[in-house]
Amino acid sequence: MSLPSRSVLLFSTCLLLLSADALSLAENQSPAARGFRALRTHPFLPPDFDEEVLGKLWTTWPEPERSAAGQADAAMRRRLTFSYYGLITDTAEAGQDAAEQGRSTHQSKPLGYVLDEQGTWTMNCLACHGGKVAGHVIPGLPNSHIALQTLTEDVRLIKLQQRKKLSHLDLATLQLPLSTTDGTTNAVIFGVVLGTYRNPDMSVDTNRKLPPLIHHDLDAPPFWNVRKKRSLYADGHAPKTPRPLMQFLLLPRVSLATLTEWEPQFADILAWIESLEPPRYPFQIDRELASIGEPVFFSHCARCHGSYGSESKYDQVTIDLQDVGTDPLRFRSLTREHLQWVKDGWISRFGADLVDLDPVGYVAPPLDGIWASAPYFHNGSVPTLWHVLYPDARPIVWKRTEDGYDRQNVGLEIKTFDKVPSTVKSAAHRRRYFDTTLPGKSPAGHTFPNKLDDEQKRALLEYLKTL
Ligand code: HEC
Ligand code: HEC
Repeated sequence: MSLPSRSVLLFSTCLLLLSADALSLAENQSPAARGFRALRTHPFLPPDFDEEVLGKLWTTWPEPERSAAGQADAAMRRRLTFSYYGLITDTAEAGQDAAEQGRSTHQSKPLGYVLDEQGTWTMNCLACHGGKVAGHVIPGLPNSHIALQTLTEDVRLIKLQQRKKLSHLDLATLQLPLSTTDGTTNAVIFGVVLGTYRNPDMSVDTNRKLPPLIHHDLDAPPFWNVRKKRSLYADGHAPKTPRPLMQFLLLPRVSLATLTEWEPQFADILAWIESLEPPRYPFQIDRELASIGEPVFFSHCARCHGSYGSESKYDQVTIDLQDVGTDPLRFRSLTREHLQWVKDGWISRFGADLVDLDPVGYVAPPLDGIWASAPYFHNGSVPTLWHVLYPDARPIVWKRTEDGYDRQNVGLEIKTFDKVPSTVKSAAHRRRYFDTTLPGKSPAGHTFPNKLDDEQKRALLEYLKTL
């Protein structure tokens, strides 16, 4: 064996120095910075697929996308693949702006997956909690593009062709829908299913019985509001502590020892979530009109949503389901037994952290950065703030454009339909239409703005841009 050459020695010394540097950097980082890093670099779940699978997904697409991808070069095909499945490019690492996305190379990395050197993709929290608005990527913004069901179905097909092992999600989709409409997911029910196979002390017991599963899709809430909240989730039942955030990781193979080892990282992840600021409205605001809208907000909205500006104040209130009148499925989907399981067990530190066993309805969320987090309501059924203010004009079926932002109505640029067009044949295409006639997708309710006249609504809409 020959001695290592001087350059190899030098190179490895550099590597050593570099990693020592990276280590001390991690130690010196704030908990929030550590949390953001952990999210993007630590695979907490088993791998989903690899680059070889990703590279072939386009072969499963319906026309015209398949032909377009077939004729594209590698970089363009990767871009089309990201767009097709609502995968968001990680722009933070490269320091590039989302506007660059269109020009990014085939090396572009996903924000919502940990991508390792072997080319393995592992889903992380940002798959649902990192999105883009008007083409700008914002970690913590809900991913209103994600096509999780379509992605998982196509991955399964390609893995079967490539004789690869199916992952937990590939198998889960055989039993439960991951999403019926792109941009939303059946996340609450995954949590229920994973929790079912655990005793409250987190020991695995696959004989425990599944409760009736009420499938329904939710639009994830924006992370920057978490710091204002007292408790978590649409009904506010869970304590704002690291453990409820770990419910997605409860695959039977993850031991209590591993969960305990990961808990400090989830404390950091929660610190990152709570460090986030709402994004500012990037377009022109008519300040005069907005100042007319402010007192309208104060007298008609603030008692539930709080006040903003110099004397901002938010006291989280939960509104009875009857009074808010939005879709009831999310509310009904968590049984008392499930909430009791949260309350009795590890998730709430065996009752040390407050769990609400009898939530009455939905939390009125803070409206900071509300311009950015369309679509609206917990199920994402309402595409713009204008439609929030005009309950009778909400569309029955709508379809968004990829990056279009509607400055007039403040929210997603959409096309509306009476029903999903009969020319739509593939399931993948159908999921791009938000069909409010499906279970859990009603845009009804929250008729509070009906007390206002058109002038008040016009001013209020302008004011909402300032939050
Ligand atoms: C498949 C999509 C998906 C993934 C992956 C996901 N979430 Fe969520 N998350 C949601 C949805 C949907 C909600 C709303 C649930 C509800 O209100 O009942 C939510 C709610 C939350 C909330 C509560 C926010 C609030 O304002 O009440 C936090 C915090 C959160 N998620 C953190 C995480 C973390 C940390 C991870 C990674 C371990 C994660 N999520 C992974 C979809 C997802
Ligand atoms: C009685 C309490 C109450 C009043 C008054 C009220 N809201 Fe709400 N609002 C809620 C609740 C509860 C929700 C959550 C509904 C859901 O997600 O199903 C909500 C949701 C919203 C959302 C969607 C938030 C999101 O992140 O998707 C907007 C926007 C909104 N309200 C604006 C207003 C405006 C503007 C007014 C005043 C005209 C107003 N609200 C008055 C209780 C109220």
